[in-house]
Amino acid sequence: MKALVFQGPGKTSWQDAPDPAIKDAADAIIRVDAVTICGTDLHIIKGDVPEVAPGRILGHEAVGTVVETGGDVRSVRPGDRVLISCISSCGRCRFCREGHYGQCRGGGGWVLGHTIDGTQAEYVRVPFADLSVHPLPSAVSSHDAVLLADIFPTSYEVGVLNGNVGPGDTVVVVGAGPIGLAAIATAGLYSPGRIIAVDLDASRLAAARDLGADATTNAEEQPERLVEDLTDGLGADVVIEAVGVPEAFEMCTRMVRPGGRVANIGVHGKPATLHLEDLWIKDVTITTGLVDTSSTPMLLRMMAAGRLPGAALVTHRFELDQMEEAYEVFSHAGETGALKVVLGGPQHDAIAVPLQEQ
Ligand SMILES: NC(=O)c1ccc[n+]([C@@H]2O[C@H](COP(=O)([O-])OP(=O)(O)OC[C@H]3O[C@@H](n4cnc5c(N)ncnc54)[C@H](O)[C@@H]3O)[C@@H](O)[C@H]2O)c1
Ligand SMILES: [Zn+2]
Ligand SMILES: [Zn+2]
Repeated sequence: MKALVFQGPGKTSWQDAPDPAIKDAADAIIRVDAVTICGTDLHIIKGDVPEVAPGRILGHEAVGTVVETGGDVRSVRPGDRVLISCISSCGRCRFCREGHYGQCRGGGGWVLGHTIDGTQAEYVRVPFADLSVHPLPSAVSSHDAVLLADIFPTSYEVGVLNGNVGPGDTVVVVGAGPIGLAAIATAGLYSPGRIIAVDLDASRLAAARDLGADATTNAEEQPERLVEDLTDGLGADVVIEAVGVPEAFEMCTRMVRPGGRVANIGVHGKPATLHLEDLWIKDVTITTGLVDTSSTPMLLRMMAAGRLPGAALVTHRFELDQMEEAYEVFSHAGETGALKVVLGGPQHDAIAVPLQEQ
């Protein structure tokens, strides 16, 4: 098969790779029908995630068709169209039993495209298939469903739920990439008073307004001032970091009100300074997190009901073998206007289910 292989910092190529095979009775082999690229893949290529070894196939978000299952797999069969979650779950360890699949100690967690070969390939082996893939209803297209592999559960769980967004809150989202935009969309489910988006890129700020931000500001134009002006000098109730660089995290800690929450989503490759000399007195809560994907079944129901924006987040489509071109487009989002780029054939678009008259 062909796959996108990481060859050390700064280097990847779309090349021949061995077909994956069942290694464990809980595995499934899945043909990849739709796959996307994450900001985290760019962090890996930058060298920010050093445990990713050269030779690793990247990618942790996909929709595909099951082609083979190990003897212990019960919930999916060959031919099923499934969402491959970015998090795999053994289902047995303490963390899985508490729903914290991201922290799985039984061989799951974030393994795809990280410590085992991932989804940016024609085929992928998914461990613990019963708990790590979700059969898809026909009402959800593969191009929408692929957004539920990572960006929606991440922004919702690590941003909105960790930040404890509530009615009337002022919510600032720093970073309006796909994760920040999905955080804006899912924060909106809680009726905040206002959502302010901060980014460096005008086209991403425009997308933020389309997805529900009430105000937007360039990160270089003193966004702290705007937040102060809009909150009578207090600061925001919730600030969500969706970038993954020290400047952005430190900005979040300057924008939060006393007693407020900073929810970090960004993957950081460098230390950020925690200004405890300012923060110790402010009663702030700072959360960090890897997504658990425990919200995926609920988000899937919302997507099927048309309550989550799918198409608005997908700006570019490619064939699977245009992987290198798709990376070029995604990694130069400033020039290309890319949000999510989705690769893969159109063979599984949504089947319209006519409503039955009672
Ligand atoms: N915690 C998790 O489980 C998890 C899961 C998935 C992704 N992530 C991380 O979330 C982050 C966002 O992902 P993405 O796919 O949206 O990435 P992205 O790179 O597409 O988006 C980041 C955005 O931040 C903007 N930006 C850069 N510097 C900035 C600054 N100083 N101030 C404000 N904005 C700035 C960029 O213009 C861009 O629009 C990444 O760090 C990614 O690795 C975390
Ligand atoms: Zn990701
Ligand atoms: Zn586990």
